[in-house]
Amino acid sequence: MNIETWLECINCSKTYDIIDLRYTCDCGGLLDVKRNLQTIDKNYLLSTWENRWKAKKGPDASGVWRYKELILDLPPEQIITKYEGNTRMYEAGKAGEYSGIKNFLLKHEGENPTASFKDRGMTCGITAANLLGAKTVACASTGNTSASMAAYAAKAGFKSIIFIPSGKIAYGKLAQALAYGGLTLQIEGNFDDAMGLVQKVSEKLNIYLLNSINPFRIEGQKAIGFEVLQQLDWQVPDWFIIPGGNLGNNTALTKGLKELYELGIINKIPRIAVIQAAGANPLYRMWKNRTQYKPVLNPETIATAIKIGNPISWEKSLRGIEWSKGIVEEVSEQEIMDAKAMVDVSGIGAEPASCCVVAGAKKLVESGVIDKECSAVGILTGNILKDPDAVINYHLNKLHDYGIEGKYRNIPRTVETTLEAVKTAINT
Ligand code: F0G
Repeated sequence: MNIETWLECINCSKTYDIIDLRYTCDCGGLLDVKRNLQTIDKNYLLSTWENRWKAKKGPDASGVWRYKELILDLPPEQIITKYEGNTRMYEAGKAGEYSGIKNFLLKHEGENPTASFKDRGMTCGITAANLLGAKTVACASTGNTSASMAAYAAKAGFKSIIFIPSGKIAYGKLAQALAYGGLTLQIEGNFDDAMGLVQKVSEKLNIYLLNSINPFRIEGQKAIGFEVLQQLDWQVPDWFIIPGGNLGNNTALTKGLKELYELGIINKIPRIAVIQAAGANPLYRMWKNRTQYKPVLNPETIATAIKIGNPISWEKSLRGIEWSKGIVEEVSEQEIMDAKAMVDVSGIGAEPASCCVVAGAKKLVESGVIDKECSAVGILTGNILKDPDAVINYHLNKLHDYGIEGKYRNIPRTVETTLEAVKTAINT
């Protein structure tokens, strides 16, 4: 590695070698990947990244490894990539009108190889696993991490072990985990129980842990922010709006933005809004009431991706939100699914957790926190097809158990096989 890089504890600042196989400090604190930014020339970075944008193959064509100087500065042969990233950014259309924000862009991370944002962190995590000589990897997941890990492990020739809460992940994600060959262990209990178990298992059985407690996952994940800014020619939006579950993604976003700011690549700090589901909102509670962190014991939400009561990265997340003068908001089940109907009917489409972004934007505009005239980028984290049940049940108005009404439903209609019947259907 050309750039001096090390691991550092976020609590006691103790440092470790970058290839030390550990996820936490001796004191128990989470670890950051740190690098000596003073040895990096910003003009070199900007021109190198611009040149790589044109690459057709190899790691330079990845929307993560394009920025490898601020991810992991490795030679191409050490990188395991599925050419992740390079996702589109859409004008928010009807979802934008619904939110009230005039200049609202939606970055669609559901366009990644396994259809969620997780691939960006995973390419980096699996590359680190390879460097460290691991042959078996594991994660706990609400679905997307497991789908991503199974695919990257398959590519690398590793065994993957997945811990998921039994019967509680969306079908598209379970299908992917099985299809990519992951050993899929459904456990009694929720995601937080699975997370506790996988930490124990990976320590005792010497298996490489690929949840976002792994600092390399966070490094890869930073590339969302880098790519958004490169797409905007380094013009910084006023706000980034992002859903919060285990709180790795927003941690990565602010960490990356801070590095760009310290390098002088950007000279304005965007504000970050982290949106949680009201039924799984430990960060929001802490933020709103200015209280100590306390897990939510029985998290519940239709947005199963973020049904998490005890997020592993809450301290790092909070650090980033404070740095960006950001905010945490919560949204109800009805708000999530109505916002989703708007994202979907805009022709964009995303899974429920992603749509917290639009629901949260609307709420923050209504409360005057976000100015309508500002510019904002929302991160859509997962593809619409990850959770077809949520879509169908909303449109069939079958979500009463969640207290949700299919307010913007589009009901399928049965018609006779005649021209007359079709004419009537079209005109009514
Ligand atoms: N959106 C989607 C679609 C997700 O899958 C997740 C997390 C999040 C948002 C929240 O991101 O955890 O970084 O705050 N899914 C994890 C998983 C927990 O196991 O797939 P976060």
